[in-house]
Amino acid sequence: MKKITIAIDGFSSCGKSTMAKDLAREIGYIYVDTGAMYRAVTLFAMRGGMFGADGGIDTAALEAAMNGIVISFRLNEATGCPDTYLNGELVEKEIRSMEVSSHVSPVAALPFVRKALVAQQQKMGEEKGIVMDGRDIGTAVFPDAELKVFVTASARVRAQRRFDELRAKGMPADFDDILKNVEQRDYIDSHREVSPLRKADDAVELDNSTMTIAEQKAWLMDIFKERT
Ligand code: C5P
Repeated sequence: MKKITIAIDGFSSCGKSTMAKDLAREIGYIYVDTGAMYRAVTLFAMRGGMFGADGGIDTAALEAAMNGIVISFRLNEATGCPDTYLNGELVEKEIRSMEVSSHVSPVAALPFVRKALVAQQQKMGEEKGIVMDGRDIGTAVFPDAELKVFVTASARVRAQRRFDELRAKGMPADFDDILKNVEQRDYIDSHREVSPLRKADDAVELDNSTMTIAEQKAWLMDIFKERT
């Protein structure tokens, strides 16, 4: 069967990665979480003291360091999912923290950051057979993807999911802080100049506010079968 490229975009914490991961595992495709890449760059900048007290970024320092930031993924045998590595160090847990979540969107809006990460993402998908999730996969990374999905859900539903996820991992979580963060990221991601979050004209839209994970999985599998 011919391999295709699958782009899954949508708002923060709408369950894109769960859907994308499950589909990739089932059909034997590579799964790439591009949000993890923006999060890893953000963690690098935080560790390097590149954020001022006002939250502003030292963009010159980050741009100079960009070439030395190597992000890779390795399959975690226990979870069956790829873990994120920053310059060889496992950072999967750290990049999911609220601190990284609240700094990531301004970093992801920087044109030189996007240019570097989009080039890496396009390389990862050269051979097709890939499920990639993010904000600009169907519009900028793979505009020719054979299957594009745009996922939405209400901000409250998404905040609740992120809250449950953090709690389940034993990480600190406050619902109101999470909701505020989800809304702030929606705003920044949709209003930035370079590749703002938007539905590609040829994407299929899914509002999964009231769907279970099993229902979303079945929905996606049906569309995949239709397209291949
Ligand atoms: O998907 P996740 O919520 O982990 O992504 C974290 C942040 O990375 C998003 O809020 C967005 O600012 C940025 N991002 C992006 N483009 C992508 C993936 C993520 O700008 N393709």
